[in-house]
Amino acid sequence: MPKKLFIKTWGCQMNVYDSGRMADVVAPLGYEPGESAEDADLVIFNTCHIREKATEKLFSELGRLKPLQEEKAVAGGRMMIAVAGCVAQAEGEEIHRRAPYVDLVFGPQSYHRLPEMIARASREAGVVLDTDFSVEPKFDQLPQGESKAGVSAFLSIQEGCDKFCAFCVVPYTRGAEYSRSVAAILAEAESLTRRGAREITLLGQNVNAFHGEGQDGQVWGLGRLLRRMAEIPGVKRLRYMTSHPRDVDDELIAAHRDVSQVMPFLHLPAQSGSDSILAAMNRKHTADDYLRLVERLRKARPDLALSTDIIVGFPGETDQDFAATMALVREVGYAQSFSFKYSRRPGTPAAAMPNQIADEVSDARLQELQALLREQQIGFNAAMVGRTVPVLFENEGRQEGQIFGRTSYMQAVRVEASARLIGQEMRVEIEQASLNALAGSLAIHGD
Ligand code: SAH
Ligand code: SF4
Ligand code: F3S
Repeated sequence: MPKKLFIKTWGCQMNVYDSGRMADVVAPLGYEPGESAEDADLVIFNTCHIREKATEKLFSELGRLKPLQEEKAVAGGRMMIAVAGCVAQAEGEEIHRRAPYVDLVFGPQSYHRLPEMIARASREAGVVLDTDFSVEPKFDQLPQGESKAGVSAFLSIQEGCDKFCAFCVVPYTRGAEYSRSVAAILAEAESLTRRGAREITLLGQNVNAFHGEGQDGQVWGLGRLLRRMAEIPGVKRLRYMTSHPRDVDDELIAAHRDVSQVMPFLHLPAQSGSDSILAAMNRKHTADDYLRLVERLRKARPDLALSTDIIVGFPGETDQDFAATMALVREVGYAQSFSFKYSRRPGTPAAAMPNQIADEVSDARLQELQALLREQQIGFNAAMVGRTVPVLFENEGRQEGQIFGRTSYMQAVRVEASARLIGQEMRVEIEQASLNALAGSLAIHGD
């Protein structure tokens, strides 16, 4: 009898990748992924700790699940509940205290041990807690998935972060920087393309700090890895995220210039445009460093589009600091963005800083910033109308007869076309644009 697995994922792409690998790890035990927690034999919440709200969501979901777990027990079955990811890593004991019916709690470094943990939870009463930072590299112990891969697939190449930005929990939840070996990455990329992937996004909390052991025994950076990845048959598109401005080197910029599979789209978080705030954030770069870097990247790849993360209301942020952020955003011009109100995270250096900013002030700044970023994104999308651009089709659309794909700039595109085109890159004439999507039709006669 197959067992029902339900995984819910919050947070970054690394968590999305990890959830897929957890499904691979438990597949040999008979667990098949399903769409709902109802009647599931194993529910995994893969959590994010980055902002306070993310943690609260976990506890409300757990509260909702408890009656389902009880129902299943009354019917003579068992629903095992697992909390994984960054909240588990940071607040393992707290989860057990607030939700003692949770069976397994484990951090992002332990999920290769899931079969043992499940076996223990079946035998013993009480919670199985595993938040050790293991010394053995977890990646080497994960099975290569066998199921069909998505047209666009994630591949984690690096994990953890040594940057210690003053606001951020990641160095504490994911641990120190670790890069996988080039051989392991290539093997996984080849497996993904065999199973249907055409676009691979290389992932890492600080992906361009990648320094993996190459097949020649040398240490490879991300630029060199991208060049090698482009040689894999079937790889049409390469992307990577998230990059730190400090770790963009010449080799990486050259890869944007020379390797056609490297997409002209880069997520490069600026966080702030004020030098004093950037210094207080421990970002290790100034606004000018960032702008000059963007200039160098655009020189190498003139059609490069950028996206960013920005935080408003970091402790001590004055109106002037915020104006500098607005100025930087105006100067760069972003195609996409994520912007956040600063969230005070216990244990991070910024949590103890004086001059925490009042909510109303941060709210107003966030609104003003988001209006500008929205305007830029709409402008960027609108400029596509009338152009004919390559679109890689990924999925069927929401409406019958429609398929969904992405431009090289990550814009979502809806096209009326046959689902047989999924997995192919076709030229599409863009006819409509909105904030979050484009629509167009297949270009039969080329440009
Ligand atoms: N490793 C990536 C992403 C880290 S988390 C990077 O270095 O950019 C994703 C984004 O969440 C960050 O870029 C930052 O903008 C935001 N973030 C992180 N901690 C935050 C906090 N305490 N409050 C608000 N936003 C935060
Ligand atoms: Fe967090 Fe900074 Fe590391 Fe990104 S670079 S994960 S924001 S500490
Ligand atoms: Fe969240 Fe952990 Fe990713 S805190 S953003 S899931 S690294």
